Amino acid sequence: MELVITDNAAEAGALAGRIMADHVRRGARAIGLATGSSPLGAYRELIRQYREEGLSFAGVRAFLLDEYIGLPPGHPQSYRQFIRDEFTSHVDFADADVHSPDGNAADIPAAAADYERAITENGPISVQILGIGANGHIGFNEPGSSLRSRTRVKTLTPQTREDNARFFGGDLAQVPTHVLTQGLGTISDAGHLLMIATGAGKAEAVAAAVEGPVSAFCPASILQMHPHATVIVDPDAAADL
Ligand code: GLP
Repeated sequence: MELVITDNAAEAGALAGRIMADHVRRGARAIGLATGSSPLGAYRELIRQYREEGLSFAGVRAFLLDEYIGLPPGHPQSYRQFIRDEFTSHVDFADADVHSPDGNAADIPAAAADYERAITENGPISVQILGIGANGHIGFNEPGSSLRSRTRVKTLTPQTREDNARFFGGDLAQVPTHVLTQGLGTISDAGHLLMIATGAGKAEAVAAAVEGPVSAFCPASILQMHPHATVIVDPDAAADL
């Protein structure tokens, strides 16, 4: 595992963006995207390179890590909508090439299996950007997730719902209870795992992921088992290392 401590959060995002851009320039067929606030700096860098340096996503497929179950299509906090608003609609990604689990499917387990199949058929994913939850989750693989899990339904922990309530106007009742998420096994199939964490609120989770035991109770610790993992943190998120 490669650990990079940058001078500040802005540089962490820019570095993650440059690494993703390198994968795209080298001909990545598919890249893995994440939602939450952590990857936004990386997406800003990719948008900048698209506008100023001719970076193109034409022909690249994107796969999201996860999706809430039951949010109406077009809801601004559905991850499908979020990734379009924050990233893919600002560059030359074809909308049909941006994939996410279908949280509105009539048959949710079938939607999970369909998503796994789509990743397998269009993969391998060259680079997967990841944030980390304060409890060590990646995607929505909450503590206790099987280290070899595939895309499936998960129930969010009370902490994760509280953490994410800020995206729903602070109203906990609006935060869905269930999600579809790539499993830890699915995520590990990507060629390069690129985790970004900034701010003191992530320090404990980062230390557990990087220096703690590999354990289902810190799902991000699977990065220690991956042949190519990069963790980019700012000084605040590195404080407990
Ligand atoms: C969310 C997402 C994760 C994200 C994490 C941290 O619930 N499902 O993919 O990495 O929690 O979010 P943030 O980056 O906003 O702190």
